[in-house]
Amino acid sequence: MLLQELSGITEDIYLVEESYPAQRRIELTLRYLSGAYAFPEGEKMHLLRVKEGGRTLGLLLFNPGNEELPVDFWSVFTGALAKESYRVQFEELVASVLARNPAERELEVSSDLWRDAVNEYYSLMLVNRNLCPGCSTGAESYNSVFSEQRVKRVSELFERLKAKGYSFEGGEGGEGGKSGKSGKSGKSGKSGKSGKSGKMLEVCCGNGMSTLALHRMGLDPLGVEVNKCTLCQGLEHGVLNPRKALVMDATQLSEYFGPGSFETVVGFMLGLVYEFNKGLWTGIVKEAAKVTAEGGLLLFTVKSRPEIEILAKALGEAGVEGEIVDNEDSDGIFDQWLFVGRKGRS
Ligand SMILES: C[S@@+](CC[C@H](N)C(=O)[O-])C[C@H]1O[C@@H](n2cnc3c(N)ncnc32)[C@H](O)[C@@H]1O
Repeated sequence: MLLQELSGITEDIYLVEESYPAQRRIELTLRYLSGAYAFPEGEKMHLLRVKEGGRTLGLLLFNPGNEELPVDFWSVFTGALAKESYRVQFEELVASVLARNPAERELEVSSDLWRDAVNEYYSLMLVNRNLCPGCSTGAESYNSVFSEQRVKRVSELFERLKAKGYSFEGGEGGEGGKSGKSGKSGKSGKSGKSGKSGKMLEVCCGNGMSTLALHRMGLDPLGVEVNKCTLCQGLEHGVLNPRKALVMDATQLSEYFGPGSFETVVGFMLGLVYEFNKGLWTGIVKEAAKVTAEGGLLLFTVKSRPEIEILAKALGEAGVEGEIVDNEDSDGIFDQWLFVGRKGRS
């Protein structure tokens, strides 16, 4: 686990907050850290500080095994993913704790790597069924879930867009999956097409069917998906990269990511988008526009023309200029229509 690698520890590690969304408010973190003042004088806490420059990203507290729980483990407190006001409170509380109990070690880690480590922790908790007690969903075979035909369809779509002059980039190296491979037949790449490493977001990534095609192009998007079982399936098959997969409601992207956080945002087979439910999908693409950098690229695919027209209108209202592309084939199912455009310019 990356958290253990970064901290150089072998004991078990537990994040204090039970889910990624909880990292936004860090209620338990702030409560426990405030409580740390109450530790009796003279009782030394074993602490590790994770920092980026002068900024504290995380604090690790050693919990020795006892009669009740005969296992040594570390609790991980972090405020790095929290809203600004909570992050400030976290850093102040950590500074006070460390003033009384200096850290045994300080570790310099980039905030991007730390975020990957936190993502990975929750992905592993999910796929190991620790977040879903009583889960009885068994693994389905790879071939019954993933279709090469669909991967080919997404890859061809990108070839088409490339021929039209669009260049996609994103991620730090296409290392999808548990073992650095993009699923069974995946191939890990090194960087985005243009050789740059702009950040890429894939909304509504499902089990990673479309992500597979991106990995093979050397793109390594952060995938967000609201359905935890679907995301779990992608993790289980090593298709989704545990460091780049999050259970998250894409209608709330701007709650978690600052404006302009991503160079590229993509989403495949959104919908079905109807008049009666369009608020959900237009909400998602508008949120996607908020977290896209000025001049950044957005790409969304759907099944039918009316659906893409609804999304294109919403994106236009969100300041994205682009075009609708007819990508129909004889199957008439996947990625038939797409919108591709740039935020803030044509
Ligand atoms: C038709 S599937 C497409 C999955 C994948 N992109 C693909 O092409 O195979 C649409 C996905 O959107 C997800 N979704 C729906 N509402 C969402 C939301 N508010 N936030 C994130 N994902 C959502 C669904 O759970 C589903 O996995």
